[in-house]
Amino acid sequence: MLAIDARDVVKTFRSGVFRRRATAALSGVSLAVPRGAIFGVLGPNGAGKTTLLSILATLLIPDGGQVTVLGHDVRREATLIRRRLNMASGNASFLWNQRPAEILAFYGRLYGLSGRALRRRVDDLLELCELTAYRRVAYNALSTGFKQRLALAKSLVNDPELLFLDEPTLGLDPDVAARLRGRIADLRRERGMTIVLTTHYMREAEQLCDEIAFIKGGRVLARGTAGELKRQIRIGEVIAFRLDPPAAPWLGEAAGVLRCVTHDGRIECTVDEAEKRLPELLRRLHDEGAVVRDVQVREPELEEVFVELAR
Ligand SMILES: Nc1ncnc2c1ncn2[C@@H]1O[C@H](COP(=O)(O)OP(=O)(O)OP(=O)(O)O)[C@@H](O)[C@H]1O
Ligand SMILES: [Mg+2]
Repeated sequence: MLAIDARDVVKTFRSGVFRRRATAALSGVSLAVPRGAIFGVLGPNGAGKTTLLSILATLLIPDGGQVTVLGHDVRREATLIRRRLNMASGNASFLWNQRPAEILAFYGRLYGLSGRALRRRVDDLLELCELTAYRRVAYNALSTGFKQRLALAKSLVNDPELLFLDEPTLGLDPDVAARLRGRIADLRRERGMTIVLTTHYMREAEQLCDEIAFIKGGRVLARGTAGELKRQIRIGEVIAFRLDPPAAPWLGEAAGVLRCVTHDGRIECTVDEAEKRLPELLRRLHDEGAVVRDVQVREPELEEVFVELAR
């Protein structure tokens, strides 16, 4: 069962006098997200990620294409869908002098909660997002990490089946980001929530997402699991050497070596096929009298796939 079935989504923003300046934000994006999945949307700045999420969350109307969310058409049946989804943005901001408990209560009322049910929901969300101790601290006095947790708490106020997170860990230190990622994984595991998130952090995508779509210039360039993307892009594997003497200038020119970089005294060669090239390179290093102190073979990082795609 699909939570999201989007086909050929088109969105153009028009601005300027007589709306003559047109920016094609999405030029035919299709994606399918199964229920209970965590789906990642990656891509460079301006790729169209936020626009896509906004359309899927019924905040923007697409110019063209077919979008079905939780079994309903986003144009005709937006009100039916809205109750069942929510969205949080890493860029969210709330009224500066309001406190977390007040902010959550405000959003709870928008979904028809009141009295004891509202108080309980607010308490639960504060607890879940580790904000209980900060319930009475004014919004502008919260650190970025706590603001981000509050944005997540707010997006859970209607216990959504489908959650959109636009750069949920933006600007967080690694430790806080890791905890937030843990929370996101829990939401899927414990509540079966379907989650669509955008991120610029490759580790985050790799760690959390069952499937990833790379978009650029309003088009999907590649999609698949992190592993599939790495194979699909065929940017090779990396062989890292530590040598004595530490340099071997011919390595960059050797057969099958696509790239060669040196950092921290390690030479990293990206090769087409590690299994085939490693013995060849080791033989030649030996013949040239170099001592191999250490050698490691690894898959490319998702980051490298991303750089390749974003070119
Ligand atoms: N309200 C708007 N009016 C005019 N142009 C817009 C509007 N919103 C987005 N755009 C344009 O649409 C394109 C896609 O923007 P979008 O915000 O979706 O990108 P993004 O992938 O989310 O980027 P980022 O990684 O920087 O958040 C950009 O060229 C942007 O300038
Ligand atoms: Mg964005």
